[in-house]
Amino acid sequence: MGWLAGYDDLVRLNEPLAPHTWFQLGGPAEYFAEPRSVDELARLLRRAHEHAVPVRLLGGGSNLLVLEPGVTGLVIRLSHPTFAEVRVEGNRLRAGGGVKLGHLISTAVREGLAGLEALVGIPGTLGGALHGNAGSRGGDIGQWTCRATVMNRAGEIVERAREDLVFAYRQSSLDELVILSSEFQLERDNPDELTKRMQTQWIVKKAGQPLGHQSAGCIFKNPRGMSAGMLIDQAGLKGTRLGGAEVSDRHANFIVVDSTASSQDVLRLIELVRGRVQERLGVELENEIEIW
Ligand code: EPU
Repeated sequence: MGWLAGYDDLVRLNEPLAPHTWFQLGGPAEYFAEPRSVDELARLLRRAHEHAVPVRLLGGGSNLLVLEPGVTGLVIRLSHPTFAEVRVEGNRLRAGGGVKLGHLISTAVREGLAGLEALVGIPGTLGGALHGNAGSRGGDIGQWTCRATVMNRAGEIVERAREDLVFAYRQSSLDELVILSSEFQLERDNPDELTKRMQTQWIVKKAGQPLGHQSAGCIFKNPRGMSAGMLIDQAGLKGTRLGGAEVSDRHANFIVVDSTASSQDVLRLIELVRGRVQERLGVELENEIEIW
């Protein structure tokens, strides 16, 4: 407890994490904070670091399953507006790690900046998107990223230039604890054209995925050259139910839950699907979703 001295107005104890996630499941965080400035964040991280308190960063909670016991240590969420600023400078867009990806995309489109519209429909924050190099068939966020400002576990700010950023399928070398902000080099296009393109993408996505359900994006990564959703479907698992969790009928790489579900149901269903796909098709699926 001693490590919290002077921080009791900022750090909350036993904060339920379920409301912060798309699944709306799981237990509390031992400590939880929403810092109000970069400086406050840095001081808090230094303090936690000195006292060896484990720290995790929560983004939009849309690619995350929190288990029932909850998590020990400190969970930080960048919900304060200071972490969500968006600025346009010529063909460059600079944005805070806490901004919602959807908001960033619509700002780019309105400003006539092309590239990010392919990511429409991906939930979560910019920080989360960069952390896992979120993307779709039309491309990923990494391809437009030209620099990033991050903060490490010791509370130090580090600048990362394009040359030392590596992005691959759902992978990113931005592995510091906090992505404070990043910059995108985009291309000029007509805002009306861009809007149309974005709307078309949105319609396609909405038709193929159970968006708007209690769900959390794709559960598994696509194995090289294959679609995890297609494999799960081929293994006959659509509609498979465990407690309140079910493999989506619309897209088999999604799990949707109802109000009776527990995170244990989701976890058991993930393992069931992985086991059956391995047994029936000989392919091992790797989680895309993070589990705390
Ligand atoms: N398919 C099936 N059954 C299903 C699902 C898909 O047969 O239940 C078939 C489709 O008919 C299609 C093929 O599988 O022929 C590929 O499906 P889709 O176009 O939906 O793409 P995906 O590979 O399953 C990937 C990303 C999605 C992203 C979409 C669209 C991964 C794990 N998934 O899905 O990303 O939205 O492309 O760009 O990379 C995510 O990562 O959370 C995510 C949702």
